[in-house]
Amino acid sequence: MEMHVSLVPGLLELKNPVLSAAGTFGSGLEYLPYGDITQLGGIITNGLTLRPCMGSPMPRIAETPSGLLTSVGTQNDGAEHFIREVLPQLPWQDVPIIPNLNANFVDDFSELAGMLAAEEGVAALEVNLSCHNDNRSGQRFNQNPVTAARAVSAVKKAAKDKPVIAKLSPQIMDIVEVARSVEAAGADVISCIGKVQGLAVDVRERRAMLGNITGGLSGPAVKPLALRCVWQISRAVDIPVIGVGGIRCAVDVLEYLLVGAHAVAVGSASFSDPETIFRIVRDLPAVCEEYGIDDLSEFRSSLKV
Ligand SMILES: Cc1cc2nc3c(=O)[nH]c(=O)nc-3n(C[C@H](O)[C@H](O)[C@H](O)COP(=O)(O)O)c2cc1C
Repeated sequence: MEMHVSLVPGLLELKNPVLSAAGTFGSGLEYLPYGDITQLGGIITNGLTLRPCMGSPMPRIAETPSGLLTSVGTQNDGAEHFIREVLPQLPWQDVPIIPNLNANFVDDFSELAGMLAAEEGVAALEVNLSCHNDNRSGQRFNQNPVTAARAVSAVKKAAKDKPVIAKLSPQIMDIVEVARSVEAAGADVISCIGKVQGLAVDVRERRAMLGNITGGLSGPAVKPLALRCVWQISRAVDIPVIGVGGIRCAVDVLEYLLVGAHAVAVGSASFSDPETIFRIVRDLPAVCEEYGIDDLSEFRSSLKV
């Protein structure tokens, strides 16, 4: 069965609709012992910043019912290190490599996008709009359609002909409004959702479970929230949507395609079992057959409402 997905025709072609989600698959190299990374639809890398970033205080991970609460704080060695040391080792001729961009200021987004887009091995850029913006109020870029659009249009300009994926968080009143706004600002693709802010506590110790106190919730607990966002957005915009949140098996992938996603990204499931994403790619054709699906594009958005 044909699994190929043309996310941005001629510019972002995927062997299949399954990508790795930012921050959960390293650069891709870390997963080489667990499977053939060139068989994935694409690799969205760990979050990158312009300069090296120390990240959040420990502990950074807490298990919660049906989910993970994490605060890594975008620990990374910076974009230059990625370009010099990591990208040349990645099989970018055989699988699209998509760096995930994080910045506090629009100008930093612009510089980061320019540096990375100039690299032949970079297929597209994903802009994490859940990071903080420059008004220093703790607001995030995508809490406001105007700031979200400003960040996307800066990245789009700097990215030249490389496709730009705008990653949205659901922590806003109206995610559809932000989706429309980033589409108008030039985003080629939307991915959603990012993590949802949460708090886990230890009553005996009277402490928060994470060093940063609060963190982001991911995993099966967020899947219904993500499916709702993908469904609403895919009906409101003309660009493709990558569904992210709680995917653990091939049937979960079909759930996202059913509500309108063109592709999906597998996140924290790769922590509990690093073979998950490879298994999903392997299982998908047989699971499609089991559900009577012989054309993914026909199946997409076929939810009966
Ligand atoms: C430890 C961790 C780090 C993450 N780092 C990033 C990041 O740097 N940039 C980003 O856009 N999303 C980041 N995410 C969010 C994931 O890409 C994904 O959107 C989210 O975890 C929901 O998917 P899941 O339920 O399959 O994990 C991170 C998630 C986790 C668990």
